[in-house]
Amino acid sequence: METKKMYILPDLKYGYDALAPHISEELLRLHHDKHHAAYVNGANAILVKMDKARTDNTDFDPKAAFKELSFNVGGHLLHSLFWKNLARAGKDGGGKPSGTIAKVIDEEYGSFDRFRKLFSQTATSTEGSGWAALTFCMETMRPIIMQVEKHNTNIYPMFRILMVIDVWEHAYYLDYKNERVKFVEAFWNIVNWTEVNKRTEDLLKL
Ligand SMILES: [Fe+2]
Repeated sequence: METKKMYILPDLKYGYDALAPHISEELLRLHHDKHHAAYVNGANAILVKMDKARTDNTDFDPKAAFKELSFNVGGHLLHSLFWKNLARAGKDGGGKPSGTIAKVIDEEYGSFDRFRKLFSQTATSTEGSGWAALTFCMETMRPIIMQVEKHNTNIYPMFRILMVIDVWEHAYYLDYKNERVKFVEAFWNIVNWTEVNKRTEDLLKL
């Protein structure tokens, strides 16, 4: 039988220093190489446990296993999306959205500034460890914001994530200490709108 696939830590598409000063090289290394890697390893460990239980024909605790799997896979996928929707400030990062995503945001939120304020408020008010994500609902054809707690709570099934920001303390503490608000402000300088627009157009098949 073909070897089953496992989760893999994706390489960053830019250098570890590319997002500085908004995210320092030291922080990005730690965040990607240690924290993201831990979720990949955590998810794979559950898969191995499940595979072993099947091979040995033994039971395992589904409640504990699937809770842990959801947490780790959520962490892996959200981080993968996060790295890709960031880019060097002044190169592909920052500025204002254009194209389809700009239209989608304007239609739903009235203006980019209104959206930016709401998204920032979502990110800064996420309880404990979590994320803010701009998603899209194909039933209502509206962008909808998710305020994700941990990596897997308050997720809307099937909603595609267009843009996400990690607001776990590990995402900013080294550079900003406890000032999450400053990190969220800095995030706008490194948003890769080309990628966010591509995700939107891919979803709408434009
Ligand atoms: Fe993170």
